[in-house]
Amino acid sequence: MNKKRILSGMRPTGKLHLGHLVGALSNWIKLQDEYDCFFMVADWHALMSEYENPAELKANMLDNVLDWLACGIDPGKSVIFIQSQIPEHLELYFILSLITPLGLLERCPTYKEQLRQVTNRDLSTYAFLGYPVLQAADILLYKADSVPVGEDQLPHLELTRQIARKFNHIYKTDCFSDPKALLTQTTRLLGLDGRKMSKSYNNYIAISEAPEVIRKKVQGMFTDPARIRVTDRGHPEKCNVYYYYEAFFPEIKDKVHDRCVNAQIGCTECKKELADRLIGLLAPIQEKRKALEKDKKYIQEILSVGREKADLSAKKTIAQVKGLLKI
Ligand code: TRP
Ligand code: SF4
Repeated sequence: MNKKRILSGMRPTGKLHLGHLVGALSNWIKLQDEYDCFFMVADWHALMSEYENPAELKANMLDNVLDWLACGIDPGKSVIFIQSQIPEHLELYFILSLITPLGLLERCPTYKEQLRQVTNRDLSTYAFLGYPVLQAADILLYKADSVPVGEDQLPHLELTRQIARKFNHIYKTDCFSDPKALLTQTTRLLGLDGRKMSKSYNNYIAISEAPEVIRKKVQGMFTDPARIRVTDRGHPEKCNVYYYYEAFFPEIKDKVHDRCVNAQIGCTECKKELADRLIGLLAPIQEKRKALEKDKKYIQEILSVGREKADLSAKKTIAQVKGLLKI
């Protein structure tokens, strides 16, 4: 039986961190056996916000791919490729934009939110409004059945389905089917300071973070503010450190909870243990990354194989779409 197909992507805007690991990556890794997987570096999407500052883009792409591989994305099972190397993404982006109602894009909640929140870049551009259309093109170009994403991306999936249906309707075709969201089942990991984990807040631990930096960052985490003395009983549900245990070491979360509420451990000690465990968790990944880093040719080889496979699939869809448009 043919495997169902998955496509997902990440924008190479900086280093990947623990949020990416629990959110997207660990999920991608698990899906590799069951699905025919396409994992894409979304550099055009990154440029939609970083267009004034493209200098780091290339380095970020390579850095992210190294993390993917080190974490367990397996090029023997999955297609790993770079969006901008497949020109059909932009072709389909334009074709889909022919039929995408402006109002749908203007009303898109992620669009409105970004315009409000991002103040250090000008996102009031023509391209940025079309962000979800390019994402729809990414998904439909490979006729993905499912798209593993976090909850924040659901509006884009809904838009993709609306565009696909409209396309099918106008051109009397069944070219595209409805791609489903495969929601990542994890608690959302907050940043070290309790705010949303984000590059701009610098409140994250990178997957490639050095052990001594991890120790320092974890020691700086906020804990239950009501716990002043070691003898005070703690409230784990008010402590971000506890949520890190829950996300990464669920097998001992009950123990941590007990020790905290019974005042059997101090926060410094509790954080030290978390740091040690995170360092242990990341050690094999970082080791693998170091080995891969030395072999730039191997990475290029993986990306060029990925490019060929993506290309094949993209060309097929574009030919079909252009046929329907009589071009
Ligand atoms: N918009 C996605 C994000 O920011 C990244 C992305 C681009 C994507 N194209 C995609 C995700 C296609 C899934 C499918 O996370
Ligand atoms: Fe948080 Fe651990 Fe301190 Fe409890 S003991 S408040 S879980 S850091």
